[in-house]
Amino acid sequence: MAKIQYGMVGGGPGSFIGDAHRRAINLDGTATLVAGCFSRTVEKSRQTGQELGIDPDRCYATYEEMAKAEAARPDGIRFVVVVTPNVSHYPVCKAFLEAGIPVACDKPLCLTVEQAEELQRLAEEKDLLFLVTYTYMGHVTAKHIRETIRSGKLGKIRTVMAEYPQGWLAHEGDWGGKQGEWRCDPEQSGGVNCLGDLGTHVENAVATMTGLKVRRLLARMDVVVPGRVLDDNDVVLVEYEGGATGVYWTSQFAIGHDNDLRVRIYGEKGSILWRQEECETVIMIDEDGTLVERHRGGGGIEPGAAAYGRLPAGHTEGWLESMGNLYRSFVRCLQAKADGTFTVDMVDFPTVADGVEGVRFVHACLESNRRGNVWVEL
Ligand SMILES: NC(=O)c1ccc[n+]([C@@H]2O[C@H](COP(=O)([O-])OP(=O)(O)OC[C@H]3O[C@@H](n4cnc5c(N)ncnc54)[C@H](O)[C@@H]3O)[C@@H](O)[C@H]2O)c1
Repeated sequence: MAKIQYGMVGGGPGSFIGDAHRRAINLDGTATLVAGCFSRTVEKSRQTGQELGIDPDRCYATYEEMAKAEAARPDGIRFVVVVTPNVSHYPVCKAFLEAGIPVACDKPLCLTVEQAEELQRLAEEKDLLFLVTYTYMGHVTAKHIRETIRSGKLGKIRTVMAEYPQGWLAHEGDWGGKQGEWRCDPEQSGGVNCLGDLGTHVENAVATMTGLKVRRLLARMDVVVPGRVLDDNDVVLVEYEGGATGVYWTSQFAIGHDNDLRVRIYGEKGSILWRQEECETVIMIDEDGTLVERHRGGGGIEPGAAAYGRLPAGHTEGWLESMGNLYRSFVRCLQAKADGTFTVDMVDFPTVADGVEGVRFVHACLESNRRGNVWVEL
């Protein structure tokens, strides 16, 4: 497969996720970074460009300039990665879609439902692929759970317990550095903190694994650590179409938890227990209570999921591989579009439609909380 060229907005000096995207994309060696606007400060953007060996002519002062210039080049980028804070996802994605360039944007997709729907409409109108990097859904074990539930092995889902506790913002006066500051700032995060950051992962994990659609929800979004103005602990009761129920919990002051996304799914014929910090394994409990632990790379993993493995069992894969798996499918689809072999069933990554669902979920929670923790229909 010929390498394709991509660009990045965000991911400048001292940032977190941009570098992870670059490393994850490199795992398969199918795409090369050739352009970027890595920071709002030109000097910082150039510094990162230089460190990454980017041609100075393709290191841009603004994302608007980058979108226009790259679209005009015969050898322009084939997709852009958007890894800026949430507040700029919408304008940046919009600029690249309007320029006809496919997008990979980190979650949450954007700040409002209107923005999200507009991005979806633009991508569909222009027939452009759009990946939203809900990283954890690239794990082989997460894909295995999705395939297992699709095949009916759990029967009808009855209830789901899902949570994503962190403890990094547990203390008064500690704003978590550059990454925490914008998350805790209403202007930069869209009036939601913990639920937008972590709750969208929970919502997407459950939706992806189970296929369940939220019919209505009731949210309690608390501001607990003194000095905070946005939610740092959220509990959401969920009712899905078809009658199943769920409970979601997210927190940023749960001391002792790092990135503890955990999903437990209970069906008529058994249960599934999964924890992303132990992403090489998945536990299934049969109808009679027999507990079976399956290992990524070992037998018993659904073939469609196992195909994403890169290493033999016991040589640990993790979060970067998971992110890389999303890009594996995304880049394959882009290649297939270019050579005329693309079909929609090739799409095995979270799309803009999943991003829209995440933003709808957050806004329903905000409404429920604002109205005194009442049930809100989606
Ligand atoms: N998928 C995941 O698991 C995961 C994990 C962490 C963060 N994220 C998401 O990734 C995004 C970035 O988070 P982060 O923690 O890396 O933030 P960060 O603050 O560490 O980095 C943001 C970068 O974007 C740059 N930037 C800001 N505005 C820009 C603009 N207009 N043009 C160009 N560059 C600009 C900043 O200079 C910085 O380099 C957020 O949306 C966050 O929710 C996702």
